[in-house]
Amino acid sequence: MRVLGIESSCDETGVALVDASGDGVPTLLAHALHSQIAMHQAYGGVVPELASRDHIRRVLPLTREVLATAGLALSDIDVVAYTQGPGLAGALLVGAGVAASLGAALDRPVMGVHHLEGHLLSPFLSADPPEFPFVALLVSGGHTQLMRVDDVGAYELLGETIDDAAGEAFDKSAKLLGLPYPGGPHLSRLAEQGNPEAFALPRPLLHSGKPDFSFAGLKTAVLTQVRKLEQQPGGITEPQRADLAASTQAAIVDVLIKKSLMALKDTGLKRLVVAGGVGANTRLREQLNAACEKRRVRVHYPELHLCTDNGAMIALAAALRLQRDMAKLERGGGFEVKPRWDLAQLSEPSRL
Ligand code: KG4
Ligand code: ZN
Repeated sequence: MRVLGIESSCDETGVALVDASGDGVPTLLAHALHSQIAMHQAYGGVVPELASRDHIRRVLPLTREVLATAGLALSDIDVVAYTQGPGLAGALLVGAGVAASLGAALDRPVMGVHHLEGHLLSPFLSADPPEFPFVALLVSGGHTQLMRVDDVGAYELLGETIDDAAGEAFDKSAKLLGLPYPGGPHLSRLAEQGNPEAFALPRPLLHSGKPDFSFAGLKTAVLTQVRKLEQQPGGITEPQRADLAASTQAAIVDVLIKKSLMALKDTGLKRLVVAGGVGANTRLREQLNAACEKRRVRVHYPELHLCTDNGAMIALAAALRLQRDMAKLERGGGFEVKPRWDLAQLSEPSRL
């Protein structure tokens, strides 16, 4: 069984083809991605209308590219999966519309996938896939959550951010430091030259005793520091910018690690999966690996290029559900998107 996956929830158009024959972990046959970063950079963030229009331009050429790479034809696709939510409504509608049209034209079922379920399950495409159950740290541009994952579709929310997401904290702090969008990778690069202990930045809710997060205060603290440094004669220096970037990254990473360890301790689980764009952060990976090794906890990440949005994770999540007979398949050409959609709502009532 071959599943085509289409991702268009934000600023990346991703298409992929996964083979889910048998019961084994599905394999990735081909994937293609177009990032809109260069287009949105001029505006300092994602412009939803431009994102939608660009998805329209890219999705069919990417689909052709994926099929050509896999050496297959449209008629070889058995199921068409697409990101149904959460995300930008207009952007989601592009992927959903194309998926529904392909399904109708090919007479194949169509399936909506939860974007965060895609991220969460993406490490199953890595060379060292995890086993259930595990704790998942989901750190993307819009979400920061700790989940207990017992199986595909069995997700229990342990804690989440009460305000900004970790990716948002990276992006907003980066903007204050004059770095281009999306700030996370840029801030992380600048931080390599700085001292993470140069500035004492807040680590909100670190001692709350619960696996929850708050990052809004960090951004305010970075703003205060930037303003102070800009007032000195000559303004903020390059070494100071690097120090502030390193200190910001250290504050975010410290909180993510402490709360992940807390969730592991509370659940008694010995396996952690890190997914979402911030999971690409080198300092987070290094420090988390060290902390988990000490506690004999196995950590799994998606392949680096599958940390940020992509079509492979959407095709994979669909394939894993199909293998377990848990897929909600649709026919008839209609479609619906869910710009706001909690991952915990996906859990099968019988499993809770
Ligand atoms: O998962 P993702 O691609 O999109 C969403 O679903 O939101 O995550 C994007 C987020 C952005 O905030 C971006 O700045 C952040 O992931 N990010 C990083 C790194 N790479 C991407 N943050 C820190 N360090 C990185 N290396
Ligand atoms: Zn994402």
